Amino acid sequence: MNSIVTERGGSPAVARGACFPDRPAWPRPLMKCEALVHDSVNDVVRLPGHHATAFATLLGFLLCGEESASHAFGDSLAGASSGAERAALAAIADDEAVHACLIDQWLAGLPEAPSDLDLAASRRFFKRLQSRDRALHFARIAALDASVCRMLSQLIRSTALAPCRSLVSGLARIRSDEARHVSVSRALALRHGMHREDLSGVAADIDAQLAVLMAPAEPAMRVLTGSTFRLGQTVRGATVTA
Ligand SMILES: [Fe+2]
Ligand SMILES: [Fe+2]
Repeated sequence: MNSIVTERGGSPAVARGACFPDRPAWPRPLMKCEALVHDSVNDVVRLPGHHATAFATLLGFLLCGEESASHAFGDSLAGASSGAERAALAAIADDEAVHACLIDQWLAGLPEAPSDLDLAASRRFFKRLQSRDRALHFARIAALDASVCRMLSQLIRSTALAPCRSLVSGLARIRSDEARHVSVSRALALRHGMHREDLSGVAADIDAQLAVLMAPAEPAMRVLTGSTFRLGQTVRGATVTA
């Protein structure tokens, strides 16, 4: 079993980030997480071995993204905003923290996944999403969340996960939040000066990097869904630069 979560009296305590271990991960919305997690954890522990390992592999990458998003919305973006924008970003940061907490709880019920995802490259990718150009930063986050939505849609339709109704509704809850984040982030990118016609170029760039980063997880996706990732305008052959 994974041991990322620190348990205190059976409840998830404030944990260190899995992908960003120098920072606390989700101090605030534990109550929401605990309310959502209960039945889905029972689903997770009943997954057969090869499905459980594949799911853990995919969740490892998703957890890294959720931690990154939680920090981005909670610190670098919300901290430099004011008024309604700040409140909207803080609400997204809370969503991301709930997602990270949910995924962490699911991971705690799964076997250790083989470390075929490059955590260092993942950290670099998520750090490079940041930009002093807020329009670009929001556009990149919108592109990433849109790709995460597509990946979650694949998992939600997976026949391997179909018997796990609570787990699938947990994934659907995350997807629905991410779809809202895409709308908010795109609107903020435009408000901060991004031209609408430039959004697709930013998305293609993010998808190209994601295709490289996620390539080692393709076998896991195939085990659960029978197909490879559909990240959007996926471009093969791109390199994730340091
Ligand atoms: Fe999220
Ligand atoms: Fe998000």
